Amino acid sequence: MAMTMSSGVTTVHLEVDRILSLFHLSKEQLHTVMCRLREEMERGLSRDTYEEAPVRMLPTFIRSLPAGRVNGSFLALDLGGTNFRVLRVKFGSPCEGVNHVASETYRIPNELMQASGQQLFDYIVDCIAGFLSNQSIKEPLPLGFTFSFPYKQIGLDQGILLNWTKGFNIPDCVGKDVVQLLREAIQRRQELDLEVVVIINDTVGTLMSCAYEDPNCEVGLIVGTGTNICYMEQMRNIDKLDGNDGVMCINTEWGAFGESVKRPLMDIVNEFDKLTDEQSQHPGKQIFEKMISGLLLGRLVQNILLNLKEKGAIFSGIEQHRLDLHGLFETKYLSLIESDTGDLLHVKSILEKFNLSCRTEDCRLVQKVCEAVTRRAAQLCAAGLATVLEKMREARQQDHMMMTIGVEGSLYSLHPQFSRILEDTVKDLAPKCEVNFRHSKDGSGWGAALAAAMTGAKYHGNTEIF
Ligand code: GLC
Repeated sequence: MAMTMSSGVTTVHLEVDRILSLFHLSKEQLHTVMCRLREEMERGLSRDTYEEAPVRMLPTFIRSLPAGRVNGSFLALDLGGTNFRVLRVKFGSPCEGVNHVASETYRIPNELMQASGQQLFDYIVDCIAGFLSNQSIKEPLPLGFTFSFPYKQIGLDQGILLNWTKGFNIPDCVGKDVVQLLREAIQRRQELDLEVVVIINDTVGTLMSCAYEDPNCEVGLIVGTGTNICYMEQMRNIDKLDGNDGVMCINTEWGAFGESVKRPLMDIVNEFDKLTDEQSQHPGKQIFEKMISGLLLGRLVQNILLNLKEKGAIFSGIEQHRLDLHGLFETKYLSLIESDTGDLLHVKSILEKFNLSCRTEDCRLVQKVCEAVTRRAAQLCAAGLATVLEKMREARQQDHMMMTIGVEGSLYSLHPQFSRILEDTVKDLAPKCEVNFRHSKDGSGWGAALAAAMTGAKYHGNTEIF
């Protein structure tokens, strides 16, 4: 509903300011986020509370990182979003480094993300078979499986799916070992000879691939369709596991932060976050992730623009637009819109897709909305990262800690501002940590090959990677 003409201009401007300010976070608020995330992480690690804790802090049974000492040829399967990849990776001597022999990307049709486990895994195995044939790979190669969803690891090659996240929802897989589902699909295609030797999360793949090149890397961060982080934790701090010696990689599944009954993100979740959550595939879930990652940032911007239009603050006089059709405003548009500095050509061409006006003031407001949403996303991600870093620093009892962060994901690598805001905010929130960001390209995929290589010939009977 448009506002009245008499008080119109001022009221509309005030409303625009109010909406933009909902996305503004003070340093104090970011500190509060850090404290609450820290509490949730401790709950996920504690023997008494982990079963109820949304931030699951999943043990991976990976107890050391590669540091350039593997060789041989491996296959990797990377499943976690709308696309999945099959890779053949050959490792040479440490000085030769990694040699990506080949990789192919396949799109997962939307209907398969809601189908049955058998249909999904049969499709994946069909694609692997196509890849092996295209690449003329005849010898049986060990396969590392990157599976970027929350699963409980009960051995290096066993992962019980806890729940689906992002765009996936295939109920018959929940509670099952996804490696077993993959193996059964391999068996159904009788001619394939593949041995699945390890399952890892994409954060772990990213960490592995970066640590292979930089031994100071002990954190793996993903900011793409979803967001998550893993890090090397001291065994003595993992209360829910027996043993006090050494370290183990923990997959935090921090995307679920905000789900607990105490609603730790309640003060910053606003009306647009709530609406976007209600429209999502998994309402009430992955609250932190929905404010940070690519899956829904476009939708969030779309909801704000629709609201501004309804209030007469933007696109006035345009009735036949296409902005309210579900799922159209893609997160990649934020990158394009925010990289437009002078002539606003990107903004105009995106708005034209929605039959919307290209008036300069409208374009500028769209840019401001995108900037506010992105800035908050990057700051929240930084608050999360600073929490993990501070926890690691404390555990090491260091006044000053140097750490490399392996990072992967489209928002981090493709967005023109996200990485800079993330990096600046981390420095501000964790000043005693000197961080170096290492962008891992394809690491979530070839990290699985690395993990497969680390299981080595002694694989049978091994339950941990040391
Ligand atoms: C989701 C998944 C998590 C994954 C992340 C990034 O949060 O639950 O396992 O690491 O997306 O892909």
